[in-house]
Amino acid sequence: MPITFDSEKRIFKLDTATSSYIFEIYEENYIVHLYYGAKIPDCNVTQLKYRGSFPSFSPNNINVSDPMFSPDITPLEYSGEGTGDFRSAAVAVRNADGNNSTDFRYKSHKIYGGKPAIEGLPALYVENDADAQTLELLAEDSVTGVQAVLYYTVFENLGAMTRSVKIINASDRPVEIEKVYSSCVEFHTHDYELLTLYGKWGKERSLERRALAHGRQLVSSKRGSSSHHHNPFAAIVDKGATEDYGSAYGFNLVYSGNFAFEAEVNQFAGTRVLMGINPDGFGWKLEPGSSFSSPEVVMVYSANGIGEMSRIFHRLYRKHLIRGKWKDIKRPLLINNWEATGMEFTGEQLVTFAERAAELGIDMLVMDDGWFGNRDSDRCALGDWTVNEKKLGGTLSEFIEKINALGLKFGIWYEPEMISRDSELYRAHPDWCIHVPGREKSIARYQYVLDYSRQDVRDYIFGEMYKVLSANKIDYLKWDFNRNLTEVGSAQLPPERQKEVFHRFVLGTYEVMDRLTKAFPDMLIENCSGGGGRFDPGMLYYSPQIWTSDNTDPIERLSIQFGTSMCYPASTMGAHVSASRRTGYETKGNVALWGSFGYELDPNKFTEEDKKIVKQQVGEYHKYYDVIHFGDLYRLISPSENPFRAAWEFVSEDKTEALLTSVVMRKPEDRALFIKLKGLDPDKYYIDEDTHEVYSGALLMNAGLCIIASTDDGTSFKKYFKAVE
Ligand code: GLA
Repeated sequence: MPITFDSEKRIFKLDTATSSYIFEIYEENYIVHLYYGAKIPDCNVTQLKYRGSFPSFSPNNINVSDPMFSPDITPLEYSGEGTGDFRSAAVAVRNADGNNSTDFRYKSHKIYGGKPAIEGLPALYVENDADAQTLELLAEDSVTGVQAVLYYTVFENLGAMTRSVKIINASDRPVEIEKVYSSCVEFHTHDYELLTLYGKWGKERSLERRALAHGRQLVSSKRGSSSHHHNPFAAIVDKGATEDYGSAYGFNLVYSGNFAFEAEVNQFAGTRVLMGINPDGFGWKLEPGSSFSSPEVVMVYSANGIGEMSRIFHRLYRKHLIRGKWKDIKRPLLINNWEATGMEFTGEQLVTFAERAAELGIDMLVMDDGWFGNRDSDRCALGDWTVNEKKLGGTLSEFIEKINALGLKFGIWYEPEMISRDSELYRAHPDWCIHVPGREKSIARYQYVLDYSRQDVRDYIFGEMYKVLSANKIDYLKWDFNRNLTEVGSAQLPPERQKEVFHRFVLGTYEVMDRLTKAFPDMLIENCSGGGGRFDPGMLYYSPQIWTSDNTDPIERLSIQFGTSMCYPASTMGAHVSASRRTGYETKGNVALWGSFGYELDPNKFTEEDKKIVKQQVGEYHKYYDVIHFGDLYRLISPSENPFRAAWEFVSEDKTEALLTSVVMRKPEDRALFIKLKGLDPDKYYIDEDTHEVYSGALLMNAGLCIIASTDDGTSFKKYFKAVE
């Protein structure tokens, strides 16, 4: 049983195959955290609740027999506000009498097979109750009657667990939630480093590493989306941990709005880690009898370094987050017209794209921004989702028929949460966008954000999309989001609920995405936000792939893809070969193969030589699809640690195939490169597809392979190995 409760000692133990998470119900029903880390067989860890001697200025509880006990220095599972613990609280509820003293203590619990869904929110799921076990712990604030249900789900075979919280107002007066983190995890020391993914447009998810220090370290977004700027991922790792050594604790929030991750090192050098909705700008009024559900945090522990942590996330997301038809089958290899044409295209021109693409073996044409209303520039027409038949030279159906006749599928672009200042929709409904009465609205890309907290707005947009999508044969939809939220208010909510708009907006987006996936279950959805501005597990629940970045330069893409791979699998990363910039097509293809592959250029401009390379790449895409999409990733040489080269490897689950890729970023001094492969079976023999040499897995991993290849900037190579009998 992965989850056990020792009723005598009142200890909960949550085990996966490789980790244990332990906490205790202490005197006065305090929920005291004891341990999280590598699997341990017993629960005799109660001494871990002590944090040094009882200090002055830390309050204690007169009803607890141990005079050394103070909530301020005890590791707690879900600590409240203003009741003896001065560290950052996991939860704060403004009570009906105006104070926000909050103190949840254990009341009861149940343990069951499976994993419950979270109402209105994306979450990991199981198809089979045997795949996970859940602990639901009910805690109560006895003074106010407000309750917190703490959910812990354990994926035993995958070394992962999830946590989320439901706050229930079981009292007879309204209260306001001021802060509701989804998880609170306590570490006994601060001998760790913090890994985060920061960035900006065109440079998402760069890896940053720093030592934990006393005080609060905060990584967050208050842009209304998870953002390019900080990803809702963080890891606490042993000092000096590498890809292969040391403990790594990964945290990833299944949420696409304002998030926060806090690591607070306290007076005794213990560390509290909190993650959930960003309390900054958040509030939620809870009427008697109603409840509020938090998004969930995915927690992964690896005793074998950062690489193993990533591989656990990848396996978990492939199996328990990605859904629908496209989860396990091959995604279409697409060509998108955006970088080639912008909004200035004609139907006739795109048909020529499709003709060339068909000759090269590409599966699908995606018509990007510009096909609707009078959208000839980014200044207008968002919200006017009617087909521009003049531009297409006929109806959309007629256009799609031409594409389909060439043997290609067809995909289309939408930006459903936006409204242009210059649009029919805005002229008809100026109050449909997020705004604050009387205050000038900030413009970004000449557009405003629709108020998705409103049902009427959501119904209208979904209705308009439905008309186009149901009347035409559309295989793929790119869902874009090209600005952040400012002057945040809703015309429909009363003043005391204005703090809810950020979260209600996200819930509204999820509702429309849910309707879309149900209405069009076969349609592949690719998420996008000016590239990867909403690359988070919340979006992955609705769209199995996300456009990783608007930056398609293969050298720049290296650090973006390395960073993204911290927790997101290759199959989720949209990666295209484009016409632009520094390297030849070979390297562009080698980098883009690490993801959901495609092209983003005008194929009419290919030379005969380019066409040869592209045909070869299309073949490689098919040949290596399984090992890349379903295999294990090993980051061998990181572009942020090595100024000259990057290298990575995919190994199939059964260890019979491996694909190694390396890119030269700057001319290195050495010409020969020794690369030690990872993840192979030491006892198996592998044939090098190029040279037909056969090597043992042990040799490839321990001695390495000497590779003599070009060392010119921007060159790259691939090596494919297959096990032989
Ligand atoms: C965003 C996307 C691009 C493209 C444009 C269209 O920037 O990231 O890929 O779709 O919008 O306006």
